Amino acid sequence: MKTLILSSDDEDIKKAAEIIMHGGIAAMPTETVYGLAADALNGNAVRKIFKAKGRPMDNPLIVHISDISQIYPLVRDFPEKAAILAEKFWPGPLTIILPKSDIIPVEVSAELNTVAIRFPSHKTAQKLISMSSPLAAPSANLSGSPSPTSFRHVLEDMNGRIDAVIDGGDCEVGVESTVITLAAEIPTLLRPGGITVEQLEAAIGEIQISDAVTNPLAEGDKAESPGMKYRHYSPKAKVILLDGGNDAFYRYINKITDKDTAVLCYSEDIEHINLPYIPIGKRYDYDEQAHLLFTALRKADEMGFAAVYAHCPEKKGVGLAVYNRIIRAAGFNIIRLEGTENK
Ligand code: TXA
Ligand code: MG
Repeated sequence: MKTLILSSDDEDIKKAAEIIMHGGIAAMPTETVYGLAADALNGNAVRKIFKAKGRPMDNPLIVHISDISQIYPLVRDFPEKAAILAEKFWPGPLTIILPKSDIIPVEVSAELNTVAIRFPSHKTAQKLISMSSPLAAPSANLSGSPSPTSFRHVLEDMNGRIDAVIDGGDCEVGVESTVITLAAEIPTLLRPGGITVEQLEAAIGEIQISDAVTNPLAEGDKAESPGMKYRHYSPKAKVILLDGGNDAFYRYINKITDKDTAVLCYSEDIEHINLPYIPIGKRYDYDEQAHLLFTALRKADEMGFAAVYAHCPEKKGVGLAVYNRIIRAAGFNIIRLEGTENK
């Protein structure tokens, strides 16, 4: 299949909308990561997304809307807390899970009785949705790889596998949306992202954080969010996290003699490290780290490294999203270092 390359001009967005309304699939920029979109109400079109990504069919998709009124036919219930979150954080990087209505195809909800809804703030995504339909869209990467945060990343994974891609430049946030379910008894965070736990709690009071946010699923456990049980965000290079203070981190790194090894590090670390490095932003600038993380993981492969070491990130604010992605990229492979001085 030849993938049509489109710009973000209105005329080109219209072409993508036509492709989608004819049952095709197209990649679109959003403020978080690029999405691979199909008409959410067309089950056959949605199936093509799973095929193009190599995604297991039991992993449900997020439905993207461009106007709050589009949500009512999609859900069975729109509770007050959902209205508060929508008012405060939409359009933006927040996905809300609610009981689904009967018009949601089984391909979208993967047999769950809920549906995930997001109203992105990216203007191109909004235009595409309003010219077509609510769009089912997972991240536009091959299943398991780091999510695409630039047009080039989408082409790397999807060229020849999808009908079209819209070039919208680089994504601002860089990690996928925060996912919260309001279909559970207590609102529960399933995936951290650009909207933080602190912001959610300030809006609707206490929320639970799913264990799967920071821990691997135990064998036989049922995933609240099926996406959490799969290998995720992994470059080909092996990722190893080091947990400990700065001095212990530098001591460990500077003893490594293996070739083809690099360090994903904060800008403050650069002068202390003797190995090749890929910077992921300033140590306490979690937004910058989120913005750079997936590009850095892909860069490790482009530069041909077999292994990359990284300092375990903080779990505060947007840092929790960075932590959640990087521990999965590392397959939960964390080495605890002696000594926590300067942590
Ligand atoms: O920022 C984002 O959310 C991006 C952009 C394109 O909007 N999309 C995205 O989609 O990250 P995806 O499919 O890569 O991740 C969606 C996550 C998966 O972990 C999936 O299992 C979960 O949301 N999910 C979707 N529907 C769900 C549902 N009804 N119940 C529980 N989890 C759900
Ligand atoms: Mg994804």
